[in-house]
Amino acid sequence: MADIGAGYGFFAFPAAEVVGEEGIVYAVEPNPRRAEEISKRAEERGVKNLRVLIAPVEELGEMISSGEVELVMSMSSFHHFEDTRRALLEMKRIAKPGGLIYIRDIKAGRLFKHGSDSEEFRNVISVQFPAAEFEESSGYLVARIRLG
Ligand SMILES: C[S@@+](CC[C@H](N)C(=O)[O-])C[C@H]1O[C@@H](n2cnc3c(N)ncnc32)[C@H](O)[C@@H]1O
Repeated sequence: MADIGAGYGFFAFPAAEVVGEEGIVYAVEPNPRRAEEISKRAEERGVKNLRVLIAPVEELGEMISSGEVELVMSMSSFHHFEDTRRALLEMKRIAKPGGLIYIRDIKAGRLFKHGSDSEEFRNVISVQFPAAEFEESSGYLVARIRLG
């Protein structure tokens, strides 16, 4: 699977446990300081199935092959993407047919100043994925995209 905008690995480490030794988690993180911290923690904890990729999702290129991952997850990082269209296309490219893209972002508003606008989030994602399912709860925007 791939964790897009992995930060310090808050979700990538538990994901590495879930997928087990046979699986791989790509932690995609363009901020070198954060990416290096994930690598350091993985080394310290003996986590061998985490691959840290220092790049923005829009520029993954050959780092992850087309159709390689079953789950693409993006937690609180969507509003950071420079080019959301390219980001979504890349997420689609790396996902297997039948795979899942799960995007959860912070909803901009009273509670959080930064984050995504609800309508824009839905619009941008729906253009690429008309069958996307959306939900909003506890300040988060969630899109679930099951690939045919
Ligand atoms: C709010 S943090 C969330 C980190 C982690 N997912 C979590 O929930 O703890 C957003 C992360 O997205 C990363 N990011 C920014 N632009 C990105 C891009 N174009 N592609 C991938 N990640 C990006 C940032 O460097 C940052 O680490």
